[in-house]
Amino acid sequence: MLDVKLFHMKTFLPLPYEEALAPRLKRAHEKLQNASGAGGEFTGWVHLPRDYDRAEFSRIQDAAAKIQRTSKALVVIGIGGSYLGARGVIECLCSPNYNLKRKETPNVYFIGNGLSSDALQEVLDLVADVDFSVNVISKSGTTTEPAVAFRFFREALERRYGKDGAKDRIYATTDKARGALKSLADAEGWETFVVPDDVGGRYSVLTAVGLLPIAVTGVDIEALMRGAAAMMDICGDASFSCPAWRYAAIRYALYRSGRSIELLACYDPAFRFMAEWWKQLFGESEGKDEKGLFPASVDFTADLHSMGQYIQQGRRLMFETVVRLGASSHQLAVPIDKADGDGLNFLAGQSMDFIRDRAMDGTLLAHTEGGVPNIIVETGGKSAEDLGQLIYFFEYACGLSGYLLDVNPFDQPGVEAYKKNMFALLGKPGYEAQKAELEAKLTQ
Ligand code: PA5
Repeated sequence: MLDVKLFHMKTFLPLPYEEALAPRLKRAHEKLQNASGAGGEFTGWVHLPRDYDRAEFSRIQDAAAKIQRTSKALVVIGIGGSYLGARGVIECLCSPNYNLKRKETPNVYFIGNGLSSDALQEVLDLVADVDFSVNVISKSGTTTEPAVAFRFFREALERRYGKDGAKDRIYATTDKARGALKSLADAEGWETFVVPDDVGGRYSVLTAVGLLPIAVTGVDIEALMRGAAAMMDICGDASFSCPAWRYAAIRYALYRSGRSIELLACYDPAFRFMAEWWKQLFGESEGKDEKGLFPASVDFTADLHSMGQYIQQGRRLMFETVVRLGASSHQLAVPIDKADGDGLNFLAGQSMDFIRDRAMDGTLLAHTEGGVPNIIVETGGKSAEDLGQLIYFFEYACGLSGYLLDVNPFDQPGVEAYKKNMFALLGKPGYEAQKAELEAKLTQ
């Protein structure tokens, strides 16, 4: 079971911060449980692992099986909360090199998460000679990046399979009633999956948004939900026995003591996109009203050879949260070399995990001695169930953290600013007034 541990934290926080924070955490907890806080209409994810729509879940499993039967590739189109969770889980459980592996399941390509022409062309080329399906994901159904990408892939599908054939290969995950994507899907007869009204994008990985692409890779999505449900039960307990309480409390106490950056670190390169998901979750939930920790991430040990310098000796801005995923699936031992030209025989016979764990311990000591507090989030292992627990743990801690900061953890008003400017500059109808003004500012 997942646990949160503090390493030599007394050096940094001598005060008994836990008791002081308990009443505020309890209020935050009640807001999440009863949907009574700011943004309460978006707390559907809190009980989702227990209450999820079983009929929709089995449609997801059927669709995944059909895609596996009919396609060598699935193109997943989405951005932000409609992208990062699925990619995080797939890379963590199946490998960042999943597409390069010899396997029975389809390759999964993510696109529509930016505006790069080259990235689009690359995925169009990758599916040019193979049977493929498309899962277009957008809660609002109006986000520019995925909508533009979808035009290209819909056209490619219709050219290849005809309108009727393409219909069988397009899966739209969107709002149950609203938005351009829903209207299009209904008009064209594509199979649709629902992003529930009360679940915002960055909390939606355990809905069809994440589950369909994840299921296509063969990951056991029932186990993922089981893990989340186990953590949901633990988080139902309003006390410090809940790891999300301990994590929310310590990161808030560190923030109040002057830390402004939280660095999420992991020693498994497969975790990289889980960290991207985590950054969106916390950054978009906390970063408002000029408050919030800046979430950043590092891949260890690779980044110990680059960012490690700053962490050890740069400005004392940050603390680290280290995710430990337990034993590796493959246990490799260092080979013996009689000549020992590289002087590595002192490691011969040792497992890579043993060496990694010594690097982890050495880094903990060095960084805390260098003035960087360390929190450890330890999972039972690296299974679908473990990841389900971890996802729910971070979501719950994030909701608590937002309420500790007195912000609405479920809105993202700041994301609109760039969109308005982009639409005006692109000449979207309705934005005419701002266009000239912005163009003038660009030339000043
Ligand atoms: O968390 C969020 O709400 C955002 O990151 C959205 O997920 C992102 O902007 C994509 O939105 P949509 O799913 O409506 O296309």
